[in-house]
Amino acid sequence: MSWEQITSLVNRIDLESSPGNHPVVPRMVPEPLEIVGVGTDAAVVRHPDRWDTVFKVYAPGREQAWADEQKVYKRLGESPWFPVMKGGGPGFLVLSHEKGPTLYDCLTEGIPIPSGVVDEVEEARRFVREKGLNPRDIHLKNVLLQNGHAKLVDVSEYLKPGEDGRWDYLVQAYHRFYPLIRGKRIPEDVLEGIKQTYRECGNHPLSMVEWKRRFFTLLSQTDHSSP
Ligand SMILES: Nc1ncnc2c1ncn2[C@@H]1O[C@H](COP(=O)(O)OP(=O)(O)O)[C@@H](O)[C@H]1O
Ligand SMILES: [Mg+2]
Repeated sequence: MSWEQITSLVNRIDLESSPGNHPVVPRMVPEPLEIVGVGTDAAVVRHPDRWDTVFKVYAPGREQAWADEQKVYKRLGESPWFPVMKGGGPGFLVLSHEKGPTLYDCLTEGIPIPSGVVDEVEEARRFVREKGLNPRDIHLKNVLLQNGHAKLVDVSEYLKPGEDGRWDYLVQAYHRFYPLIRGKRIPEDVLEGIKQTYRECGNHPLSMVEWKRRFFTLLSQTDHSSP
């Protein structure tokens, strides 16, 4: 299929924005496009004739994220840490397809997350700061485990000021809890329960002891097993 034909399919994608922090809902994705992932701003799709490429298509009302993400990719240039931006059109970007499960998938599937990945994300964050950008919104669904290494996706917030603390919190959790659950499948309900608690306690961070208590209560309420 020609590039024009593929982009005309991409232009027909119909997405519904969700309020709050919920993922966008794909209403219609024409075949043979396939969804690779969804986030709170966009859906990411692939075409079988261009397996090395993805199209990140933004939901209505997320034009600012589209414009910002484009600027950030231009400023980042090429690096080992991020996808390559190959182009774009109104409301979508064309990026390199990055293989590998997200760290979120690693937790639900019991795939071990090596500690080197945590160090590499730190290195990527330093690289981002050196480019005069602010590495924000780095969480489990925005980091891929690629052949044992970290790859970061979703750079749309790097122009915004302020520290969101999300990655620092995850690093703490990695050091304190991860050795206890390494290789275990953590049900999505448990991960979502933790996210919910994190949001509710935003202004009054819980102590690590309290986190541990809540986490294991959630975990014991569900049936979990090793892969
Ligand atoms: N370049 C890419 N290659 C492979 N998968 C990707 C790529 N970019 C995003 N994804 C997948 O799509 C999901 C949503 O993309 P993301 O850029 O995070 O969207 P949003 O900005 O809406 O959060 C990601 O969590 C990831 O699973
Ligand atoms: Mg995302």
